[in-house]
Amino acid sequence: MIGVFDSGSGGLSVLKEIVRLLPREEYVYFADNAFCPYGEKTVAEIQARAHAITDRLLAEGAQIIVVACNTATAAAIADLRASYPDIRFIGMEPAVKPAAIGTRTGVIGVLATAGTLKGSKYLNTKGKYEDDVKIVEHVGQGFVELVEAGDLDSPKAEAIVRESVKPLIGACADTIVLGCTHYPFLAPVIQRVAGDDVTIIDPAPAVARQTVKVMQEVGLLPALLPDQPETKEAPKVKLLASGASDNLERLFQMIFTH
Ligand code: DGL
Repeated sequence: MIGVFDSGSGGLSVLKEIVRLLPREEYVYFADNAFCPYGEKTVAEIQARAHAITDRLLAEGAQIIVVACNTATAAAIADLRASYPDIRFIGMEPAVKPAAIGTRTGVIGVLATAGTLKGSKYLNTKGKYEDDVKIVEHVGQGFVELVEAGDLDSPKAEAIVRESVKPLIGACADTIVLGCTHYPFLAPVIQRVAGDDVTIIDPAPAVARQTVKVMQEVGLLPALLPDQPETKEAPKVKLLASGASDNLERLFQMIFTH
């Protein structure tokens, strides 16, 4: 069983990509929406939540855990790996590399939470590429709250998205990296605001491939995956939340019935 968690519903954008590769696995997803957003929380607060959630996911039977949250990855994954040495944790990677390779203007934009942008993981990755490309950053101010409220496309959502995307486009970014797992739910609005020429990069498919690779390494999957013919069956996902679960369930239905 694969455990997946996020501060809220955002990690469903990662779960979707894992289910695409492994449609017949069993999943348990924990949305920590009573404590959302994580973006402005201290490292110690996020680590405490990550521990509590890990204990819960393990009690549910998870054998491997995907930290489907950039902010929690930045704040807590090293600590989780040290505290649970027998469990493999897969975290989010800021997709700066594919953006740096693909940009034509030489300017890439990164949208993420304040916690992710301050984290050493992001700063190290950025350090590798900033001699070659210009990297401009912006916090997706209010994006997480929109997604948690289920407001994915309204005039209000567009106005909020515009505020954070405009500075990136103003700096000539032609590629925008989504550095928070909530943001893919707003991708249609981000694209509309940014314009059709702008490429949006979501690291979730790469994280899903990494999950398969790690599961093969630890023997949870065969080294050669058998062909998994498309299935119309609903994925086997147990949804858990520390707060109300109605929006979580609605977004879940939305992504798995389309
Ligand atoms: N979905 C999260 C991330 O990827 C966290 C957003 C938040 O809670 O601030 O960073």
